[in-house]
Amino acid sequence: MAALHRSRLARAALGAVLPLVLGLTACGGEIDVEKADRSGAELFYERCSGCHSLKSANSYGSKAVGELEGGERTNGPDFNLKKESRDDVLFAVRNGGFSGAIMPANIVVGKEAEQVADFLDRYSGKEASQGSGQ
Ligand code: HEC
Repeated sequence: MAALHRSRLARAALGAVLPLVLGLTACGGEIDVEKADRSGAELFYERCSGCHSLKSANSYGSKAVGELEGGERTNGPDFNLKKESRDDVLFAVRNGGFSGAIMPANIVVGKEAEQVADFLDRYSGKEASQGSGQ
């Protein structure tokens, strides 16, 4: 009886967390990535889209195209244009960008940080001009 009760509790706890995680999927946003990259894209959308842009993650936080130079102080680089490697993302996430001045550090940590880094490694820089290399 006691064991049954405990597992019920565990399931109730899971039930409280899962909808939060799946909520984004359920509302069918416009995140447009391979299934394997979905968590990374969703994390990016949740935590980074306020300041960075990346179409495949439905994120438009960088300066809008045509907006005058400057924009909001917190606007970060546009990852449609800028290719970021996994290591650079992990570095930036740990340190709060490259300068440490504006971007908060550790918005994602551990496995989530790696998911975001893998996602950016694969999807960033798609609209960069060809031939820029790595
Ligand atoms: C509050 C706004 C803000 C949030 C939220 C934010 N960033 Fe940033 N980020 C910036 C700014 C501004 C810069 C540029 C200045 C700097 O590098 O310190 C930057 C720089 C970066 C860079 C370095 C880009 C380059 O090539 O110069 C990476 C990579 C990065 N951010 C990734 C992320 C990821 C991943 C997340 C989400 C986990 C995130 N950022 C969330 C504002 C933000």
